[in-house]
Amino acid sequence: MFWSLLLASYLIGSIPTALIVGKLFFGVDIRELGSKNPGATNTLRVLGKKWAVVVLLIDLAKGSLAAYLPIYFQLDAEPLYFGLSAVIGHCFPIFAGFRGGKAIATTAGALLIANISLLVIAYVCFFLVIFLTKYVFIGSISVGLSMLAYALISPKLELEFIFLVFSLFLLYLHRSNIRNFILGIEPKINDKKLIND
Ligand code: G3P
Repeated sequence: MFWSLLLASYLIGSIPTALIVGKLFFGVDIRELGSKNPGATNTLRVLGKKWAVVVLLIDLAKGSLAAYLPIYFQLDAEPLYFGLSAVIGHCFPIFAGFRGGKAIATTAGALLIANISLLVIAYVCFFLVIFLTKYVFIGSISVGLSMLAYALISPKLELEFIFLVFSLFLLYLHRSNIRNFILGIEPKINDKKLIND
């Protein structure tokens, strides 16, 4: 049961929401536009607010659904493993040539089910940092760092391990944003939308 639910979580995470929305409603491949990242931030940048909210909510639901699977099937296993599996699916989706997003929304969805206190801490930091800097990726990095801090103080070895993997993975996924920031070409959240509907 453990492995089938882990696989199901990966497949749920693999649903490429931003790619589907871009292709279905605009006839574009979001992975060729803006930051080329198929996630809510780049959807906001390329397709606007309304579609960014749609992508955000569906990507979030993928993480929640995956983390809820072991609870639903009464499996004695940490829900975060399944959330992490959905995050890996979101970043390396089997349904989209393994070219996926950076998993900030899917991570939030998993935490919503598995660890609400960390969700609040990490995502308050996320919105605060974006408000102050206007860069989404710095907010995302603060989510990774919050998870890292939580891993260090967590009393349970299993949780320390999961949060360490989660945080290092999130930080690794944002390496292109860090490079662009250093080069001075990283866009801010309030930059103009690229496509008109
Ligand atoms: O969570 C994704 C965000 O941190 C960066 O997205 O499109 O600017 O690479 P993007």
